[in-house]
Amino acid sequence: MKKKTVYETVLEKGFTRRDFLKMCTALSATLGLDFSQSDQLVAAMETKGRLPVIWLQFQDCTGCSESFIRSTHPKTESVLLDMISLEYSEVLSAASGHQAEAAMKQVLKDYEGEYVLAVEGSIPGDAGYLTVAGHDAKETFLEMAEGAKAIISYGSCASWGGIPAAYPNPTGAKPITSFVQNKPVILVPGCPPIAEVMTGVIAHLITFGQMPELDHLGRPKAFYRHRIHDKCNRRAYFDAGLFAESFDDEGAKQGYCLYKLGCKGPTTYNSCAEMRWNGGVSYPIQSGNPCIGCSENGFWDNGPFFVRRAKIPSSQTTINPDQVGLAAMAATAVGVAAHATATVIKKKSDDKRSEEE
Ligand code: SF4
Ligand code: F3S
Repeated sequence: MKKKTVYETVLEKGFTRRDFLKMCTALSATLGLDFSQSDQLVAAMETKGRLPVIWLQFQDCTGCSESFIRSTHPKTESVLLDMISLEYSEVLSAASGHQAEAAMKQVLKDYEGEYVLAVEGSIPGDAGYLTVAGHDAKETFLEMAEGAKAIISYGSCASWGGIPAAYPNPTGAKPITSFVQNKPVILVPGCPPIAEVMTGVIAHLITFGQMPELDHLGRPKAFYRHRIHDKCNRRAYFDAGLFAESFDDEGAKQGYCLYKLGCKGPTTYNSCAEMRWNGGVSYPIQSGNPCIGCSENGFWDNGPFFVRRAKIPSSQTTINPDQVGLAAMAATAVGVAAHATATVIKKKSDDKRSEEE
């Protein structure tokens, strides 16, 4: 039987072509596509069937699913019901027990080599810690990974081990990449990840039929190419050497840089400062909380979180934040002096010209 296209599914649900194009526009913006690629996205949604997805959960808190169902661009109901065909999800499937298990086995047969496997949570390295329906987590993961077209590692637990791997890591928790080497894996780290990043990755797979461009760690470059620090709304204060010294001082009220309160934005790669959360409303730093680097490997053991770090680690500088302030003041003083000198020189030259005239 011919699979319905995404567009046909949208129309069937009572939406108009205008709604469909609005969804495509939002997706194009999320992916950062240019005009010609946007046309390609619309054409793909008009002609291609929905992407079959199996969503597994291992050692996690379900925060990634919670984040995903709050996606706003496009709305989750569109993503779940129109762009993908969610064949199995322990959180979102209506079926449960033997019925759900039977449905999952059927999907493996019907969509072999076609489905995308989304994984949330880390896998215990030591057998016996996580067993669902009598199957060990590692066994279930390997069985599902076998016929998958691609695997999306959703969240920091699946991508790096995450909170379950925190010292002393009682279950021997490991990232999913420790168990599978022969499949393309896209890492979407974050605790939780930004929902629109996941929808963007899915849209890319449908539109271009291939993996998005990844960085050296396996993260999609479209969403993980910048540090939080590069696009931070408090960056001007950092450059000016203006730092909040405590969470309730005048600097904090003025929105100064949170580096001295432990901000890890200079070493964290994620899209929070550009895409923001909850429909673009805000993100931790904008709300007054330093970035704890939740999308970076090992962040859970990289505390204490709200203590100033001695150096500013970045490719450009390793200087002390106080020196940033002094450097900024010095640069300002040099700038003022240069401006004053230039003004005097110009005035003298104007005076000379008037005398000659
Ligand atoms: Fe923003 Fe943190 Fe960088 Fe300050 S240190 S500019 S708060 S990312
Ligand atoms: Fe996480 Fe930092 Fe973003 S804590 S949510 S990567 S601002």
